[in-house]
Amino acid sequence: MQHPDKVIILDYGSQYTQLIARRVREAGVYSEIHPYTIPVSGLRALNASALILSGGPASVDEPDAPQLDMQILEMGLPVLGICYGLQLLAHALGGRVAPADEREYGRAEMEITSSSLLWEGLKEKEGHKVWMSHGDKVTRLPRGFEILARTPNVDIAAMADPGRKIYALQFHPEVAHTEDGNLILHNFLFRVANLHPSWSMSSFVDSTVEKIKAEIKDDEHVVCGLSGGIDSTVVAVLLHKAIGKRVRCIFVDNGLLRMNEGEEVVGYLKEHFDLNLVYVRAGDIFLERLAGIEDPEKKRKIIGHAFIEIFDKEAKSIPGVRYLAQGTLYPDVIESTSFKGGPSAVIKSHHNVGGLPEKMHLDLIEPLRELFKDEVRKVAAELGLPDFIIWRHPFPGPGLAIRILGEITPKRLDVLRRADRIVQTELLASDWYRKVWQGFAVLLPLKTVGVMGDGRTYENVIALRVVDSLDAMTADWSRLPSELLARISNRIINEVKGVNRVVFDISSKPPGTIEWE
Ligand code: XMP
Repeated sequence: MQHPDKVIILDYGSQYTQLIARRVREAGVYSEIHPYTIPVSGLRALNASALILSGGPASVDEPDAPQLDMQILEMGLPVLGICYGLQLLAHALGGRVAPADEREYGRAEMEITSSSLLWEGLKEKEGHKVWMSHGDKVTRLPRGFEILARTPNVDIAAMADPGRKIYALQFHPEVAHTEDGNLILHNFLFRVANLHPSWSMSSFVDSTVEKIKAEIKDDEHVVCGLSGGIDSTVVAVLLHKAIGKRVRCIFVDNGLLRMNEGEEVVGYLKEHFDLNLVYVRAGDIFLERLAGIEDPEKKRKIIGHAFIEIFDKEAKSIPGVRYLAQGTLYPDVIESTSFKGGPSAVIKSHHNVGGLPEKMHLDLIEPLRELFKDEVRKVAAELGLPDFIIWRHPFPGPGLAIRILGEITPKRLDVLRRADRIVQTELLASDWYRKVWQGFAVLLPLKTVGVMGDGRTYENVIALRVVDSLDAMTADWSRLPSELLARISNRIINEVKGVNRVVFDISSKPPGTIEWE
């Protein structure tokens, strides 16, 4: 897609690179992340309006440290270097970088020493709170540069060559702990680089619909796997807006969904969007093949294969089918090309239809490839989707199969569904549903002794897993109020026959994963 103004972020391996991209987009300017190894010719072809050099873990003097190709600066674009980006600029332009006496992580107080476009609108005060994370520092300015700010530990906390529109910060303006970080980024985008904010989710909907219309010929059809999650639902609705009934959505009920899940989503979509949607009830096939299987990897394989088989059969019945629509998001795309990732990086939630495009000779349509998750939520709101879809927690393709440890039987599925329903209801009722990343129940493969009324029980244990996360790569257990935990536990034990104990999972990821299998 052509974007009027585009910021390219060169990734030197910082954990904050994606955050920079999101901040720029929140400011209304389209941004893309590329590995620092991109050839200059490739960079030119991207037609950038400004560049940001990210942070990174290396030291510029190390052997093999990522370097800055001078031809990049010769392109004459406005440049903002952040952390390692600042050190790279200093190193490349004749300044000096040396190990700091003390590594500096966390908050620092920055004193502005020279006025600059970057500081426009900042309150006049002695100490501005900024977030640092570095081991090296710039000890000599490159020629043509001036110092804009310092901290007690670093004499050159910000520097610029305003004539060439090259600015650099030792601290991280993209993290929330830097008090005026957004204002500083805005100043770079709008005052230094003179960009215009034109990236919004309503413009995204219109231009994407137009693009799909132009791309798909009148006699061509698209098949779309609908899981009920927000990504595939948004893809289905966007395609429906563009080509109407020529997109056939296939919802496979594998018998491993949460209570009423399929009916809720499919019912809503059919009613409000009149989608061309097939609801395939295939629970029996899945459960039959899963009978007696306890190994998590075997479960995943069986489910994946059965899904492809069923989807393939349905898709083949569509005349003129040429495309498969997928809800790939931008983080999936960068993971496979970025600094650390390789081409082997996982294709997360889309594993369900993996292998199908080649098998069926389908071309892929991925309308959300440029978006972050929070942007997909905005698109969903633009499309008029309801909150229960927009804020639905992620749910794994293999469904409850990987939340039932041990064998999967209809009876155990029923126990888990009832317990999980209580977890979902209580999270929603207490307003914690939106605050956490994911919350669910897990059925453990063990029984414990309890007492109910006058009798002794010997029943199942339910584990509660509720986590906070930004991207599911790392997660921490959510600090739910004890009253809420107590209510969930009481309700499960009282209302779900077959459960006499509830435990709360207090493991972080890593080393634990979010799911138990
Ligand atoms: P883990 O358990 O690896 O999960 O910490 C990270 C995120 O991915 C989801 N997940 C899956 N999604 N197929 C999927 O489509 C899977 O096999 C699968 N396993 C985990 C999980 O719910 C969490 O959001």
